[in-house]
Order: sequence, then C-alpha cells, then structure tokens
Amino acid sequence: MLRNISKVSTYQTPFKQIYSFSYYANLDLSCPYPSFQSRDLTITHTMHYITKPPCDPKIMTFGAFHTDHLLEIDWSEKMGWSRPQIVPFKSFSIHPFAACLHYAIECFEGAKAYRGANNSIRTFRLNCNMYRMKQSAKRLSLPDFDGAELQRCIEQLLKVDRDWIPDRPGFSCYIRPTLIATEEALGVRASSRARLFVVLCPVGPYFPSGLKPVRVFCNTSTIRSAPGGVGGYKVAGNYAPTVLPLKEVQKIGFHQNLWMLPDGLVQEMGVCNLFFFQKNEKGEKELVTPMLDGTILPGIMRDSILEITRGMGKFKVIEKKLYIQEVIESIESGRMIEMFGSGTAVSIQPIEAIGYNDKIYEVKYDTKLNAGELSHELFDLLTNIQTGAEDHKWIKSI
Ligand SMILES: Cc1ncc(COP(=O)(O)O)c(C=O)c1O
Repeated sequence: MLRNISKVSTYQTPFKQIYSFSYYANLDLSCPYPSFQSRDLTITHTMHYITKPPCDPKIMTFGAFHTDHLLEIDWSEKMGWSRPQIVPFKSFSIHPFAACLHYAIECFEGAKAYRGANNSIRTFRLNCNMYRMKQSAKRLSLPDFDGAELQRCIEQLLKVDRDWIPDRPGFSCYIRPTLIATEEALGVRASSRARLFVVLCPVGPYFPSGLKPVRVFCNTSTIRSAPGGVGGYKVAGNYAPTVLPLKEVQKIGFHQNLWMLPDGLVQEMGVCNLFFFQKNEKGEKELVTPMLDGTILPGIMRDSILEITRGMGKFKVIEKKLYIQEVIESIESGRMIEMFGSGTAVSIQPIEAIGYNDKIYEVKYDTKLNAGELSHELFDLLTNIQTGAEDHKWIKSI
C-alpha cells in the first residue's frame, strides 16, 4: 500500500563548506562525548635512549628520525577512550583485518615545535591542528575527542623528548598526530575500535641553502579532490593517489603538480596551498588565493599568511574562485609579480614556472633572495614568529 506523504521535511547538508571567514576563527575544541583527559596521562620513560643524529640538514631530513617516546590512546565503542600513555617508541602489532589497512579510515596532522629562547619549547598554532584533526575524525566516523586535552598530552610528550628539539636555526620538531581505525573485521563501516598516537621527528630546514623556487605542472588529467569529496580534510586516502602523478611530473622536469578541476579551477600545489601576487587590471596590487570551497585543505600557514598580509594593509587580499586561464593571462600580460605555496613542512615555497597545455610560463624572481620580495618577507616574518624570542598569540611556550 502506498503511504500518503503529507509532511515534507528539510534538512541541512552536513558537509557544505564555503568559508568566507577564517576556518580557524572559532576554535571549538570541545567534545560532546567523554574524552580522554591529560590529567590521567601516564609516562613510562625509555631504558634505551636512542643516539641522536647530528644537526646536519643533509642527514636530518624530513621524517627520517623518530624521538625516544610516543603518545598512544586507544578507543573502543564499549569502553570509550583509554587513559593516555607516553611510552618508549615502539612498533605496533596490528591485526591484518584492521580497517585502516584496507579502507584508509585514518586521518592525521602535521605541526611543528621550535626551540625558543631560555631553552623553551614553542608550539605554533597547535590548537588549529587539533581543531582540523577533529573535523577529519568526524568526517571518517572516527571517535571525537577534546582537542585541548590532546594538545596538553602532546605538550607533555614534547617535554619528555625535549632534548630532541634541535636548537639550530631552521631546525624544528615535526609533530605527527594520527588516528587510525583498528576494528579487527573487514567491512566498510564505522570502526568500533581506534587508536590515536602521536610521534615526533627532528627535522632540518626544508631547503638547506635557503628558499628554492619550484616548477609546477598543471595537471589536467588527474584530480586530487572534487566537489563533495574530502579534499578539505586531512585524511590519509587523499595522499596515496598523488604519489604516481608526482613521479610522472618529476620525470618531465617539474617538482610538483598544480591541482585543479577540469574547468581550470585552481586548487593547490602538491601538499601546499597557493598564492598569487599580481597587479589587477586596474593596476592595483592584490594577493589572491583559492577560496576554501571544501576541495582545498584549510592550511594553517594559508590562514596565517592571510591574517599577516591583511594586517600589512599594503594591498588587497582576496580569497576567490580562481581559474588557471586568469593566472596564465596575468603572467602573459606581465601583471603577475610572484607565485608561491605555503605549508607547515616548507613554510613558503616560491614558484618560478607553471607548465600548462604544453607551454611553460615563467615568473621572474629575485635570484639573490631565491624568491620574490613578498614571499621572502613572509618567510622571514613567519620564521621570526616561530623561532624568535618574542611572545606571539600563535605561540605557546612550554
Ligand atoms: C594537501 C595539503 N594542502 C595544504 C597543506 C598545508 O597545510 P598547513 O599550512 O596546515 O601545513 C598541507 C599540509 O598539511 C596538505 O597536506
């Protein structure tokens, strides 16, 4: 029998994401469910301290070395969150059916801590990483947690491994929080078990001899992220499919892919957000970055650059839908002043050339600075906030 539908209800789509305000404006780190608490943290110190690598940028490369300890917290549907534990660094034993291994039910973060004056440890906007990780976890139906509590546990881990935080300029300690689905059964569904862990690695400067401009290739055949997809979240499944396209562009002499949609809508470059500093058709200077439409990762560096440049008040700062045709037109007509990417690992990444439709479009840069003036200034400003002696609202000294 057909039922008479007399009432039509409306609903709000949960994943509509167009941000015309800072993604990090309202950092609600709370959790509606019982979370783990940093006051319950237990610490087991290692009996076998690892020999630290020398602070040599050629040796201390990104992700090559781990510190002496890690933080781990387990979750299960039945028991909720376990007590957080800092334990000697170890390998995990994982069931071959674990959901993260099959369906990429996993999200992660990337933040940095720096050695400050008086031997202090400076974390840079770690609360933003906590906020972003909560959004990624929710999108994958992984358990939510109190971000402020996780931040406190990470601060304790940094204290335990403080001797690993290099005190040389340009060096830092990379923080990698990760949340994986560990249910021991095959099947695409919300996992009934999960593990949150945080590892640290000491890293040297991304570019040992200062900034280094890259050549990027506009990939018209591979898409990183589509509308309605998960490009706006830091979920593991976004990364594996980019490895082959990266290898392919490297074979033809480029360093990175510039990701865009088939209609030319510009998104990101490799694992960086993009910025274009140009003169508009009226001759006014403007800094343009693709708007957060849900397909772009809300970079913390991106957000920082927007706030810094808006504060400078020297030129317009615009977040908008940006098409590659507009970028190329600006380069061809000589209006493009600088192009650069941004991200935690690299800070600022100047771009010297864009390959698009069999042509290479180059933008001049200051060969002494190895960057444009603005990218260089931003690099210095950010480095100073991160590693300088001054207090700053984005720095938490521990
Ligand atoms: C895809 C992608 N875009 C952009 C970024 C830059 O983000 P952030 O500035 O927070 O490091 C990253 C790095 O995490 C990334 O993985």
